[in-house]
Amino acid sequence: MAIFQNDTLYDESILKRLDLKKLESEISLPPGASALAPGPGLVVRPLSIADCTIGYIDVLSQLTDVGNVSEGMFIDTFKKMRACADTYYVTVIEDLNSNQIVGCGTLLVEQKIIHSCALRGRLEDIVVSDEYRGKQLGKLIVLLLTQLAKELNCYKVTLDCKDSNRPFYESLGYKKEESNSNFMVIRYR
Ligand SMILES: CC(C)(COP(=O)(O)OP(=O)(O)OC[C@H]1O[C@@H](n2cnc3c(N)ncnc32)[C@H](O)[C@@H]1OP(=O)(O)O)[C@@H](O)C(=O)NCCC(=O)NCCS
Repeated sequence: MAIFQNDTLYDESILKRLDLKKLESEISLPPGASALAPGPGLVVRPLSIADCTIGYIDVLSQLTDVGNVSEGMFIDTFKKMRACADTYYVTVIEDLNSNQIVGCGTLLVEQKIIHSCALRGRLEDIVVSDEYRGKQLGKLIVLLLTQLAKELNCYKVTLDCKDSNRPFYESLGYKKEESNSNFMVIRYR
């Protein structure tokens, strides 16, 4: 899969345009670390088509049942997502020491017709690998994707979470909308 090594889901330069200094002021990273290099050997970057083979699926499996995703299924899905321009901002944290994905999060940008054809951001699939938790990486990925939603001109950014994770998101500025809080679902699986 070497030919896909640099094949990313979205243009990485958009991350560099964010107010990374503001973000760094909101978290306590180790000395010398920065928002896009949040610890020794750690890098924050868009999902790459090769990430299936370096732990992305394993990290997601710490969030939910990923199912049986072959490399071919991953690549086909990656290409479909990339074909939807300006929609999927799947972002990962890689540990270059072990060449493994250790955290991830997705900003999904939904085009609306309402609100004068506005964009709505949704945070999905936020997870940090268990041995990397407590190092501010979860906070970093949420704040980064939240700022990215603003940069992309989303009028709001939303997420669903378990009660146990509410304090985590509240500490990052998210609020439960009491007047609008009925999350409804029909499950097929
Ligand atoms: C939730 C999760 C992403 C947090 O990642 P993390 O890297 O451990 O979190 P951080 O180190 O950035 O923690 C930042 C702060 O939030 C706090 N925090 C972390 N998880 C928390 C939780 N579930 N509830 C309340 N506070 C939490 C930390 O204590 C830390 O506080 P501090 O800044 O005062 O030290 C991680 O625990 C995880 O992957 N959990 C399993 C998957 C999951 O539930 N994802 C969320 C789906 S909605």
